[in-house]
Amino acid sequence: AANERESLYLVNEYANTYFQKILHKTDQGKSIGLSYFKERGFTEETIKKFDLGYALNEWQAFTDEAIKKGYQLEFLEKTGLTIVKGEKQFDRFKGRVIFPIKSMSGRVLGFGGRILVNDKKAAKYLNSPESLVYHKSKVLYGIYDAKQSIAKEDNCYLVEGYTDVIQFHQTGIRNVVSSSGTALTSEQIRLINRLTKNITVLFDGDAAGMRASLRGIDLILEQGMNVKVCSFPEGEDPDSFAKQNTLEELTLYLEENAKDFIQFKASILYEDSKNDPIKKAETIRDIVNSISKIPDTIKKEVYVQECARIMDISEEVLFTTLAQINQKELK
Ligand code: CTP
Ligand code: MN
Ligand code: MN
Ligand code: MN
Ligand code: MN
Repeated sequence: AANERESLYLVNEYANTYFQKILHKTDQGKSIGLSYFKERGFTEETIKKFDLGYALNEWQAFTDEAIKKGYQLEFLEKTGLTIVKGEKQFDRFKGRVIFPIKSMSGRVLGFGGRILVNDKKAAKYLNSPESLVYHKSKVLYGIYDAKQSIAKEDNCYLVEGYTDVIQFHQTGIRNVVSSSGTALTSEQIRLINRLTKNITVLFDGDAAGMRASLRGIDLILEQGMNVKVCSFPEGEDPDSFAKQNTLEELTLYLEENAKDFIQFKASILYEDSKNDPIKKAETIRDIVNSISKIPDTIKKEVYVQECARIMDISEEVLFTTLAQINQKELK
């Protein structure tokens, strides 16, 4: 019900204020959380802009204080901030730095929490569970702070992680959002589609991850949007790269390395399969499948010509495959 949603929002707003207070006003928050963010190169202004916070390394510090302030356990549990086990209550976020996740209109939907020291036992990031107000598949981290710039620049950079968004802002690029490590959904793309028809997908610099993400991009083509892709040097992600470069250098890198998605995919597939006829047949179906998602007929034709050239095959083969795929979709 609407009332219950509102109660969850109120709990989230309170937690957002609480985690920031802990970060800025307590000894543990300052010596652990704040120093962590500063070591990552985030300025005080950036930390405040993104409402970054810290959760004490205690079992129920947050829950106790929220209850004392009059928030009901039922709603604390429903946001996922409190985990109830029998008579006992635990804070979900414990000894982690906190990234609040906001809606397009700036309401706090949930949180991401990062451990401070990488170790293989704990998940690097812990996120709020799905709730009445938090639906992972419909949320893009950073959209609230990016929406004006996305419309103004008429382009949206899509990155993998929280810190990529934040470091880009600090460097001076504000039209950026993150799918937060999950596979991109049509609902997330629709949020961007309301603001611009142009997306540039930025990959972390690891080949495996990049190849895995290529498939999800067909969903962007389906919505008639223009897609570019850009990867970073091996071992770098948008955060680490932005941190080492000035705005001018970063802008130049993006201008020089962003490639049209279909052309990029065609050249990768060509490289992967040029010496293997069986694989080549598969890759032709793969690229034509992507092209078939583009609603605009003229664009489709242009891409067929372009891919024929890149993959060194005849346009006829591609057009025939395209017709076959269209036939299947009609059935
Ligand atoms: N992620 C997650 N849970 C994990 C790992 C990752 O939810 N255990 C999500 C986070 O939103 C993260 C994004 O996936 O920001 C990208 O993952 P990764 O590239 O591994 O992390 P970074 O954002 O680069 O984080 P950091 O620089 O802090 O290591
Ligand atoms: Mn849901
Ligand atoms: Mn990654
Ligand atoms: Mn990363
Ligand atoms: Mn990173």
